[in-house]
Amino acid sequence: MGARFLVTTAIPQPGMQLLEAAGGVTVLPEPPDYQTLAGLCASGDFDVVLTQLRDVVDGPLLARAQIRGVSNYAVGYNNIDVEAATAHGILVGNTPGVLTDATADIALLLILGTARRVVEADRLVREGGFHGWEPELMLGSDVSGRVLGLAGFGRIARATARRALGFGMEVVFAPRPPGDRPVSDEELGEFAGKVRQVGWDELVESSDFLSIHVPLNEQTRHLVDADVLARMKPGAILVNTARGPILDEAALVEALRAGVIAGAGLDVFEDEPRLVPGLAELPNTVLLPHIGSATVPVRAEMARLSALNAVAMAEGSLPPHPVNPEAWA
Ligand code: GLV
Ligand code: GLV
Repeated sequence: MGARFLVTTAIPQPGMQLLEAAGGVTVLPEPPDYQTLAGLCASGDFDVVLTQLRDVVDGPLLARAQIRGVSNYAVGYNNIDVEAATAHGILVGNTPGVLTDATADIALLLILGTARRVVEADRLVREGGFHGWEPELMLGSDVSGRVLGLAGFGRIARATARRALGFGMEVVFAPRPPGDRPVSDEELGEFAGKVRQVGWDELVESSDFLSIHVPLNEQTRHLVDADVLARMKPGAILVNTARGPILDEAALVEALRAGVIAGAGLDVFEDEPRLVPGLAELPNTVLLPHIGSATVPVRAEMARLSALNAVAMAEGSLPPHPVNPEAWA
């Protein structure tokens, strides 16, 4: 019998074709709730499940699951208890690399869009409020010559740094906040002499723009809370293209209301798709529906990688992009 794939939401081509060529594919008609997904994983009817970020694959689900692998259609995998998967010999796969530039583009878009008030300005035009050029219409802040602080210095942070340097920004970073480790010039590669490592406290206190690029885990949950916001510059803008729960969103709303910081550009939220009360009413925010990787070619490439991961797992091979290769025995 061929491989049996459970796909919680259909993915773009060539993903579905690759899966169909390798075995039987069951696509759910609507996103499954937790119990439905847990039941399907425990049924013994599937070798591999292809999941989305909103599918919660936790320890209890994995303990009952009769599957070989979970292929996540994303680079992040905070929706999956990887430790539990490894303990049960279940492989987890992700889609690294292909969405780096697209996500860094969104980080820059949020930096520029918030600094230059693009949402407010667009609304003004559409609502008939543009009556001609005015000396003080929609004044925002510059990005050139100002400090971009990167919390994290992985693939997406580096791609963001590359873009920001092109805009004449001064770029500083803290590699793995709140903890730290020195990054050598050799490791910095093309960025040696162009970006500067600082401690987490200096990053918070000196950045005109603070952009989040760390994974979500127990160390980074609410990394940016009321205390951190209070230490930021009053004119600072916060940008998050990583994961919502890294920010205390209620504290952010308070800080934006009170003028503790100047603005925020967010592509991710603490409890997606819900927003904390008050956030949507704030004019000094740019809010996007988690579209960091949302270009046609990038989503096709993510589909290809997640399908290749799934096919390899179903065949009992090590997938091309394993998160927990140690689960492969
Ligand atoms: C998107 O958030 C991803 O992790 O790919
Ligand atoms: C603005 O349009 C200018 O010409 O300064």
